[in-house]
Amino acid sequence: MQISEQTRIAVIGSGTMGAGIAQLAASAGHQVQLYDISPQAITRGLEGIARSLQGRVDKGRLTTEQYQAILGRLSAAEQLSELAGADIVIEAAAEKLEIKQQLFRALAEICAPQTLLTTNTSSISVTAIASGIPNPGRVAGLHFFNPAPVMKLVEVVRGLDSSPQTIDTLCQLAQRWGKTPVRCQSTPGFIVNRVARPYYAEAWRALEEQVAPAAVIDAALRDGARFPMGPLELTDMIGQDVNFAVTCSVFNAFWQERRFLPSLVQQELVLAGKWGRKTGQGVYGWP
Ligand code: CAA
Repeated sequence: MQISEQTRIAVIGSGTMGAGIAQLAASAGHQVQLYDISPQAITRGLEGIARSLQGRVDKGRLTTEQYQAILGRLSAAEQLSELAGADIVIEAAAEKLEIKQQLFRALAEICAPQTLLTTNTSSISVTAIASGIPNPGRVAGLHFFNPAPVMKLVEVVRGLDSSPQTIDTLCQLAQRWGKTPVRCQSTPGFIVNRVARPYYAEAWRALEEQVAPAAVIDAALRDGARFPMGPLELTDMIGQDVNFAVTCSVFNAFWQERRFLPSLVQQELVLAGKWGRKTGQGVYGWP
């Protein structure tokens, strides 16, 4: 498959990542369908994209015509079956294997045999997501980072059966979208989320041991190690629910190795619905 503006993109899941990916794809000139199991979530996702693009207009980075053209390329899909004409599907639903397997099995029946079926999973085995569907060569990971319109890296993840053509096409797509693709094998957390897990874990531990308040730990990593954000404020941006789910997934996938041990303090935040920026409260309060 040759990637062009005519390549039709479908994004499943209109949370932070799905909406960010849809914005990116529409900004790159593609027709984009956004599907979510909840119609209200699609509306919220599209409203968020419009707000984000309006911010670009206000800053003089986009013209009003470009803003309108991008929004005009985005449409809501109310049924999964409406994605039948997509060339590339990017799934960014909840980080749960059963949900993804169910979606991929349905997509394999709905979409054409050559449609590439990709997942934005951060940590779940691409091989497991592809299992049980005919033609698993067209399944691969296409993992973006938050905020998707801004962060350069995309992990292009090979499952056991992903075909070399699928991987090449996805690298081509990422490059066309101004991203830097890295190829990697499907292993828990791939590259970034694997290496970053002990980093987050140590920040939680430092907080639990009252080494310093959260703001001081974050400032130390920003100012002393040149990270754009400290580890704890980053978990608030990613979402405590998402960050914790990824940690649990990597921890379990590595046979519960202690170096990936999830934080009980973070679990409390998740259970209390204090998921960070998106709920207005996490480690910090957000306006
Ligand atoms: N959507 C679109 N554009 C955004 C944005 C968003 N959500 N957030 C920021 N931007 C844009 C801004 O409009 C601005 O654009 P211009 O340069 O054209 O003006 C640019 O990004 C920089 O933003 P700001 O000036 O507001 O602030 P900043 O310089 O502090 O950058 C940041 C903000 C890009 C978020 C930066 O703080 C950063 O890089 N933080 C770390 C992010 C990170 O590590 N992400 C990975 C998380 S891990 C993950 O995602 C993996 C996983 O699987 C869970």
